[in-house]
Amino acid sequence: MQIISTKQELLSVVETCKQRHQSIGLVPTMGALHKGHASLVRRCVRANDISFVSVFVNPTQFNNKEDLVKYPRNPQADAQLLASLGVDYMFAPTPEEMYSAQEMASTFAFDFAGLDRVMEGKMRPGHFNGVVQVVSRLFYLVRPDRAYFGEKDFQQLCIIRHMVERSSLKDTFGNLQIIGCPIYRGKDGLALSSRNARLSKEEKETAVNISRVLFMSKAWAKAHSVKEVEKMVTKAINSVPGLEVEYYQIVDATTLRPAKTFRHAVGCVTVYCGPVRLIDNIKY
Ligand code: PAF
Repeated sequence: MQIISTKQELLSVVETCKQRHQSIGLVPTMGALHKGHASLVRRCVRANDISFVSVFVNPTQFNNKEDLVKYPRNPQADAQLLASLGVDYMFAPTPEEMYSAQEMASTFAFDFAGLDRVMEGKMRPGHFNGVVQVVSRLFYLVRPDRAYFGEKDFQQLCIIRHMVERSSLKDTFGNLQIIGCPIYRGKDGLALSSRNARLSKEEKETAVNISRVLFMSKAWAKAHSVKEVEKMVTKAINSVPGLEVEYYQIVDATTLRPAKTFRHAVGCVTVYCGPVRLIDNIKY
């Protein structure tokens, strides 16, 4: 596996792939890779002639400086894992390589058709602008045929799909296919996340209750309304000492508007486990 740190080198490698008519797969990541990322990478390597994985902790998507500083980083272990999975290129630029000083201050504004005004977008103002800023830049640089994203960040996946399939930018991405990959859970049910590295052993045991309640809610949904299930889930998670729900909303899986029924609905939750903010979701 080759590690690339400059845009110029990346552009030249991509150009060679294009000239050879090789299909390109991209997995954008912020590093601190775990088994969840590995499952995306395996799909990417299997389905494409050439696979790229970006490892870049994107400063413009953090609305909280402390969160950016504390975000786990493990570039050497990441490179080892990616090489063992058969990845061709790891793109690991510095923030200065990725953005000019002006871009870093991020005046970038994208039209999300309201998808960013709820849940994560409401709680983390500017977050999705930063995500789309970096993801669109990666798409322009790598020109992938397929790009892989985890369903754990469900709202992020919806927004990226919107950008590629329905926004005014869509023609600039050619036939790019956005592939959503199922949440990867530990044996205990906890959704894998790079942020889990910040949980103590006790906090990890506590955090398991988030998915436990979400799974139970599928049974509740058979006999209760959407509003009732929202209340039941929030109450059940909040009753676990050490957990505090920021929001739990059952929304339409495409528009992210409040769901009236469980058809095509997904329940999205954000929970503080001690100081660590965890997200998870469940499809009904
Ligand atoms: O999901 C993530 O890890 C990030 O938001 C992404 C898509 C790599 C953009 O920085």
